[in-house]
Amino acid sequence: MQREHWKSHMGFILAAAGSAVGLGNIWRFPYIVGENGGGAFVILYLLCIAVVGLPVMLCEFILGRKTEKDPVGAYAALSNGNKFWKFVGFMGVASGFIILSYYSVVGGWTLSYILKGLSGQFAQLTAPDLALSNFMGFVGHPVWPIVFHAAFIVLCIWIVHSGVRQGIERWCDILMPALFVLLVILIVRALTLPGAGEGVRFFLQPDFSKLSPKIFLVALGHAFFSMSLGMGAMITYSSYVQKKENLWKASLWVGGLDTLVAFLAGFAIFPAVFAMGFSPEGGPGLIFKVLPAVFAHMPGGTYLWGTLFFVLLAIAALTSGVSLLEVVTAYFIDEKGYARHKVSIVSGLVIFLLGIPCALSFGCMGGFKVFGKTFFDCLDYLASNILLPMGGLLICVFVGWFWGIRYALEEAHSGAEGVKEIVWGKIWGFLVRFLTPVAVLLVFLLKIGVFK
Ligand code: PFF
Repeated sequence: MQREHWKSHMGFILAAAGSAVGLGNIWRFPYIVGENGGGAFVILYLLCIAVVGLPVMLCEFILGRKTEKDPVGAYAALSNGNKFWKFVGFMGVASGFIILSYYSVVGGWTLSYILKGLSGQFAQLTAPDLALSNFMGFVGHPVWPIVFHAAFIVLCIWIVHSGVRQGIERWCDILMPALFVLLVILIVRALTLPGAGEGVRFFLQPDFSKLSPKIFLVALGHAFFSMSLGMGAMITYSSYVQKKENLWKASLWVGGLDTLVAFLAGFAIFPAVFAMGFSPEGGPGLIFKVLPAVFAHMPGGTYLWGTLFFVLLAIAALTSGVSLLEVVTAYFIDEKGYARHKVSIVSGLVIFLLGIPCALSFGCMGGFKVFGKTFFDCLDYLASNILLPMGGLLICVFVGWFWGIRYALEEAHSGAEGVKEIVWGKIWGFLVRFLTPVAVLLVFLLKIGVFK
């Protein structure tokens, strides 16, 4: 059967950017910038994107387009079916499975917060403590988190089920521009509030004293998760790319859009938080505890701005969730020959079931611990601290040392005639063979706790 291809150049870029832009950009990035030295950290982060993120992304794009296969098939095709490399591809598919099971739970929370916004509930959450107890009441409930987790998975299945062009491309073409428009509207609102400047200062004022080798690794680790690298999501998406596409430019576009949205999110969040007299918190605390209180005090915040913010977050989560489900679906289509409509539904269903103990980790299953962690935390740790960095390291070793830079460059140059082949090829080859694997190895060691 002929492989489906993205209809347009922009379709591929928006779908890949949709995968990259997710919860990681909107709730994690702004906060780690604010906490770790503002503008100084930003410079470090950009360096990580350039030196590690973009080269690895190009590796994934090359493997995908060259083989036109899912991650397992891609490794198998270029290694003559070598079992070890097939296993590496399989690890990527397993990561997709695992990440989506808990990502979808958080995706479900964002959906439920849209409803809270629409029904005016933010009006009562006037202080972070009130918002927190409301949040804990919701995530600790035995039924609602599962219902919203199911709703999120159904949306992912619905899009993936309709196919690459009719589902993923069509929806990313609509949702990604919508995400940008919403973000810009929210930034204008936040920056025009009296006292917004303090938030911008918190976000970007450079503090070089905070920089340390460990922070460098934090930036690198985040670059990885944020750009959806290390598990074959980009291999899968680029397996639908036509040969005439310029992969060098595509990786710059996707990396650039991912970084841009992360920055813009900071400008939408911190000015509003400071203008309303709150102080920011990290991770879920910022989004579900501080922001509802911010919206409660902002003129028009309870209905309009609060709802729009959570619509934005849900869109970001959905386009990432879709890419995770597509990795799993593509594996079963390519390797086992199943039909897309069946596989997307069955995989989605199994992922939903695995997500149930994650959804209950904040309530009745909170006491159930594996290695001292709740089920939710355990899966998050396994995927983001072990599987993704290991996948990233191995992809560099595969392209740089096993398959060979020369063949990879041949593929990269198809459709990229304007690129200064020799210069960029040399730089990229050096990064993929030496610098990037060492950097990723350091992140991996940091994540598993070797550096305290
Ligand atoms: N990049 C997404 C985020 O920043 O939230 C998360 C993600 C999506 C990671 C898809 C990996 C992936 F394959």
